[in-house]
Amino acid sequence: MIKKAVLPVAGFGTRFLPASKSIPKEMVTVVDRPAIEYVVKEAVAAGIEQIILVTHASKASIENYFDRNFELETTLEQKKKFELLKSITDILPQHVSVVSVRQPQPLGLGHAVLCAKDIVGNDDFAVLLPDVLVKDESAQNDLANMIARFDTSSMAQIMVEAVPDHLTDQYGIVDVSTSPAEGQSVVMQGIVEKPKVGTAPSNLSVVGRYVLPVKIMQLLEQTPKGAGNEIQLTDAIAMLQKTDAVEAYRMKGQTFDCGSKIGYLKAVLHYGLSHAELGNDFRALIKDLDI
Ligand code: G1P
Repeated sequence: MIKKAVLPVAGFGTRFLPASKSIPKEMVTVVDRPAIEYVVKEAVAAGIEQIILVTHASKASIENYFDRNFELETTLEQKKKFELLKSITDILPQHVSVVSVRQPQPLGLGHAVLCAKDIVGNDDFAVLLPDVLVKDESAQNDLANMIARFDTSSMAQIMVEAVPDHLTDQYGIVDVSTSPAEGQSVVMQGIVEKPKVGTAPSNLSVVGRYVLPVKIMQLLEQTPKGAGNEIQLTDAIAMLQKTDAVEAYRMKGQTFDCGSKIGYLKAVLHYGLSHAELGNDFRALIKDLDI
């Protein structure tokens, strides 16, 4: 079973400036909680028990968020604000731990994942990129489906979704002979990072959720710099795919790219509308705008 997930959070978040100048983009709130919490909870819902943050000195607030805050807890307890106390102590279940390791230089996503090598040890693992929120409230979410498929087949799983052809140069793109149905996996023929528009092997883009065999770490150690002069996870997966079957898993949930401003606003709307306590008032408020 896959129990470990690597979350690379060291990036500067330049697409989210000026906010990300002094707030990690992962800590920007979507409704009433930081974006990273949704990603961590998605992993936990899929059975992950250890979250490995690959982080940077400027991002200590992410670690603080998942840590206990003794002073705040004591104050809330003394003031008998038990609901609020529960809201800060129940962020994650007891059996889930959050650990972190630094990425000393910004050498790319592949390098970030490699920084977690010692903590991952001999275990196969998942990778979740925190820019993208995946909204999937079904009993078994997309990541859980990928883990289940990996458990039975031992084939790496790469989550994909269709994007318009003119956007293929912004993503990893997979090469498949037949497009998988939603919630299904097919063996892929190749994967390429940010191909030029018009040269992409398909319109199925890598969403930022991966289930990988631990052997990917050795491949990452040999991966030369690729697109953007960075060590790319996509290139290591392409290497893996030469010796081992790798599958593209087509997601059924909905994605929100919170690394971009408009994607973030869309996420706030969707998560706001489906929020258990705020949803109805928020809907009324939007109606009142009369747009
Ligand atoms: C990364 C991956 C890319 C993937 C994308 C999803 O790129 O390298 O393959 O499609 O995330 O968001 P980045 O957006 O970090 O440049």
